[in-house]
Amino acid sequence: MPDTQPSTDATATGSSVIDRFAELEHLYRTAPVGLCLMDRDLRFLRINERLAAINGRVVEDHLGRTVREVIPEIADIVEPLYRRVIETGEVALNFEVAGETPAEPGVTKHWLVSYYPLTSSDGKVRAVSTVVQDITELKEAQDAMRSAGEELERRVVERTAELDEAREALARVCRVSMMQGLAGGLAHELNQPLTAIVNYAEAGRATIGRADAAAQLTDDFERIIEQAQRAAAIVRRVRLFVHKGEKVRTPTDVNQLVEETVPIIAVEARRSGPEIIIERAPELPAITLDPIQIQQVILNLARNGIEAMAKGAEPGSLTIRTAPVEDGVEITVRNTGPVIADEVAGRMFEAFYTTRPEGLGLGLAIARTIVEAHHGRLDMTGNDGAGVTFRFTLPATGPSAGGGDA
Ligand SMILES: Nc1ncnc2c1ncn2[C@@H]1O[C@H](COP(=O)(O)OP(=O)(O)O)[C@@H](O)[C@H]1O
Ligand SMILES: [Mg+2]
Repeated sequence: MPDTQPSTDATATGSSVIDRFAELEHLYRTAPVGLCLMDRDLRFLRINERLAAINGRVVEDHLGRTVREVIPEIADIVEPLYRRVIETGEVALNFEVAGETPAEPGVTKHWLVSYYPLTSSDGKVRAVSTVVQDITELKEAQDAMRSAGEELERRVVERTAELDEAREALARVCRVSMMQGLAGGLAHELNQPLTAIVNYAEAGRATIGRADAAAQLTDDFERIIEQAQRAAAIVRRVRLFVHKGEKVRTPTDVNQLVEETVPIIAVEARRSGPEIIIERAPELPAITLDPIQIQQVILNLARNGIEAMAKGAEPGSLTIRTAPVEDGVEITVRNTGPVIADEVAGRMFEAFYTTRPEGLGLGLAIARTIVEAHHGRLDMTGNDGAGVTFRFTLPATGPSAGGGDA
């Protein structure tokens, strides 16, 4: 093995220690970060031009002077950091320091500062080398980004509120314009029972004084009551539809609600006499709802089923069934009877669509409006045999309890 002398770069390149020192000096001077060396009394031993510029003074103004003398503006912040490094001998990295310097009075600057102790052989900290990076622009960009984010968030909230308002306004306009269309139909609808009432009343008046007056009057009065009730029912239905709705929301046992509705359905079914079958699920979650409105939905669907079956030869059957579904309750109202025509199936939920001479065409439109206001869905499917099934859901996580919010 040849005895090779480890060759240093210096000898290899022929440059001297002096040259290398000059190189380091040059690097220190021109480094794009602020650098300084501080003695134990916090006097500047050395500082580069970059840091001197940050401080707003020339290099010579620093040397031999204390931090407090040169940059009193931030002395309170940096002195404790230096002292800690001197006491502990530990490196302190990436401190964010903010403050003003004579370089730009009145402007808050941000720096990232790291402190490196220079220790002598006895372990004592002789001096502290400091690296300072100006991160003011970065900070400002961050702040701008944060406030832009906050502004965006604020605008989203604002727009969402506006959208909600617009949606409500639109719903109101829809109701109003629907109401205007309704007025004509309503006048026509009410005209029938009112004319009938006048006729019966006149007939009654004519019988007064006659021998059989009592029996005839009883009959006339009964007719009058019937017609007045029909008029009241029409008004009630329309009112329900136009109703601006102070929301009522009560935790409700849907089975019980169905049970309470059955007697009313039974009265309506009396004439044509279909069988009424109730199938209640043994257990249902309580649903927060408006009981009057949901009862109205069940009634509207049942009424339609009864009316559809009344046209057939068989009495038929109407089945109301409750069932738990994922996150809520499902209610089905099913009737046997006529097969539904495609044309009717496609339009039945439209307001004012009716195939019945005495119909208003609002029953299903109202029912769907109510169910959707409860965040549920109402749909119809034709049965395999004959007749139809209406199905609606009421989510347990629907509108919040308490109500009152428009
Ligand atoms: N169970 C049903 N079977 C067959 N057709 C139905 C049923 N329910 C509703 N329809 C059809 O849908 C139309 C609209 O119903 P609805 O909105 O309740 O208004 P109306 O009962 O006043 O006609 C009815 O006229 C009828 O043609
Ligand atoms: Mg109806």
